[in-house]
Amino acid sequence: MRILQLTDIHLFSDASSPAAVKNRASFDSVISYILSHREQLNVDGIVVTGDISHDGSVESYRYFFSKMELLDIPYAYLLGNHDNAENVLLAHQQQGGANKVDVCRLSDSQWRILFVNSVVKGRDHGLVSSQELNQLEMQLSESDRKTAVFMHHHVQPVGTPLVDECMLLNGHELLSICRRNGVRFIGSGHAHTLFQRKTGGVLLSVSPAVCHQWENGATSVKIVENSGFTVISLADTDSLVVETFLI
Ligand SMILES: [Fe+2]
Repeated sequence: MRILQLTDIHLFSDASSPAAVKNRASFDSVISYILSHREQLNVDGIVVTGDISHDGSVESYRYFFSKMELLDIPYAYLLGNHDNAENVLLAHQQQGGANKVDVCRLSDSQWRILFVNSVVKGRDHGLVSSQELNQLEMQLSESDRKTAVFMHHHVQPVGTPLVDECMLLNGHELLSICRRNGVRFIGSGHAHTLFQRKTGGVLLSVSPAVCHQWENGATSVKIVENSGFTVISLADTDSLVVETFLI
């Protein structure tokens, strides 16, 4: 199974500011790339790991759904610190979206895909609540399928203070649950960079952002202008391959 991960699109309600124009153009270019390389990418589903919107507006989510539907590939999304849970639902009701599915629909007989909510309302840092941790542990114990977990906030520092200051606060707790229950992959976003590390049998993978990257090591806002996404190959065997695309 091949899963494409999009993250950190940061759309605005309209295209009236330079950042809004640029972020729409970045998203458009990624959508065009996926459309024109559909056969080579050969993906079964898409996960979107949050910060779909920058301003949380209904219009930004309507734009998101309209573009995602062009791909005609099943997709599921979770929310990031910039997102607005009410408005994304409202936009989906208004815009529709036949290809939007619950994340469980992206699983197959070998691999299970799970989402974990890491958003703390009104805060940039992430935290997985104890309720959510308990639920995750219960879900993991219910099946011996291999599991890939997706969430918004990065679990370990990526070496860029600008984003490491607002990473997941209880990554250690999450990781120990994942390790003792055989999770093989944790994919996240939020850090606007490419980062991979294997720890205790779990591959941590941070996908580059769709809108732009932060300069590695930056302590203040320094932008690197490219758009990225990853494709994760979840094979029947023990192999797990992550391909990165920067366009
Ligand atoms: Fe974020």
